Amino acid sequence: MSSIPSGQPIEADDTVDKVHHVRIWPSTLSGTIRVPGDKSLSHRALMLGAMVGTEVPVSGVANSGDVAATARALRSMGVKVDLERPSDGSLSGTVLGPVREPADVVDCGNSGTSLRLLAGVAAGIAGLTVLTGDASLRRRPVDRVRAPLSEMGITTWARNDGALPPLAIVGGQPRAVEYLSPVASAQVKSCVVLAGLRADGTTTVISPAPSRDHTERMLRHLGGRVVRTIMEDGAERVEITPCELRAAPIDVPGDPSTASFWIVAAVIAATSVAITVPAVLVNTTRTGFLAVLRSMNASVEQAEARDVGGEPVADITARPSSLTGASVSGPAVVDAIDELPILALAGMVSREGLDVTDAQEMRVKESDRIRATVDALGALGVTAEERPDGYRVPGGQRPRSGVVDANGDHRIAMTAAIAATIADGPVDIMGFSTVASSYPGFLRDLRALGGRYEVIA
Ligand code: S3P
Repeated sequence: MSSIPSGQPIEADDTVDKVHHVRIWPSTLSGTIRVPGDKSLSHRALMLGAMVGTEVPVSGVANSGDVAATARALRSMGVKVDLERPSDGSLSGTVLGPVREPADVVDCGNSGTSLRLLAGVAAGIAGLTVLTGDASLRRRPVDRVRAPLSEMGITTWARNDGALPPLAIVGGQPRAVEYLSPVASAQVKSCVVLAGLRADGTTTVISPAPSRDHTERMLRHLGGRVVRTIMEDGAERVEITPCELRAAPIDVPGDPSTASFWIVAAVIAATSVAITVPAVLVNTTRTGFLAVLRSMNASVEQAEARDVGGEPVADITARPSSLTGASVSGPAVVDAIDELPILALAGMVSREGLDVTDAQEMRVKESDRIRATVDALGALGVTAEERPDGYRVPGGQRPRSGVVDANGDHRIAMTAAIAATIADGPVDIMGFSTVASSYPGFLRDLRALGGRYEVIA
């Protein structure tokens, strides 16, 4: 293994915001690391907290770019969001609605969840809300939320024949409907549920498969009337009946999507180490990647199972494993949707490789994640095949030294960083600052686990 040339490692407290080009060296990671609060729950804690009308205490909120976009958006909609940073690096404070018509266009930055969920909030308030975002977000579809909102009698406009942001919404009194969603998307479902909270009766949203149910659980935690049922044919049915919400503290546990990078790092490591991530959200609509890893014979254990605000939480320990192969398809894709890039690394080192199908939704994330995953692996000399609805990574491969473009996608950047830990030399990652969307402390935590890197630019 080559030695590290002189470079300027960033200080422990620095974040990745200004790191454009980082070089990561092979290393053995081990130890215990706490990850930031779950991104999905953090968005919802702020938005649902704002819909209560009295002050809601929040804690464990992720201090990341995407969640900051939600906080900023809500402030511009008249909500008092008071957050400060206690010693553990997360954000704690209070949220106080109501939500009102914003005085200006609302910038959701890089965050699809902010934009699509706020569309549902905006549908239920009088006035005009215009939601937009950065170049990546303005390439992501909004017709999927315009369709249900228009069935609910809400007027919306969007660019590119109604398909892309900016998205303008004339809110008011949504009509209660039964909406049949063509996609199993928690963002679409949540948009309808949040509009439904202000509708004139019970709204139902039926999706082809179950998706993350955080909006439903958190609404119930706040006294909301929500019923979620998984039907015999596998479809998911959610009913929301409008009612006044009541304040209750919301504590956000660690983000499993963030933890997945360290868990996969441990599982693919060549030498015998363990990585423990305490207090991680283990809602099964989010831990599909653990199920895939276990089906590949990975050593991943959950301990100290507990309930935090209606969500299951546990400590997770992962160890190097002799991985077999796996195929991921159908509803299992939804439960692992954000972890399909990092799972490619498990496929790469496994005996039989990893096949992913039915995952065309990967193409409408922060980047086209099917192509970006295959390109990132290719840049490191790893063979992978792009398919219309997924990818195949043959097993028995190790990454080589190389240069990866993050493609404006935090999860691609972090996947490349974890690949670097087992590569045959350093891996350069360009556009690394995108990691700030979900995990500004990634490099600090990489170092805490024994990783080595230098900031080039
Ligand atoms: C999210 C839902 C998922 C996921 C995204 C966060 C959420 O998107 O990919 O990162 O918080 O509701 P879709 O619901 O569009 O699949």
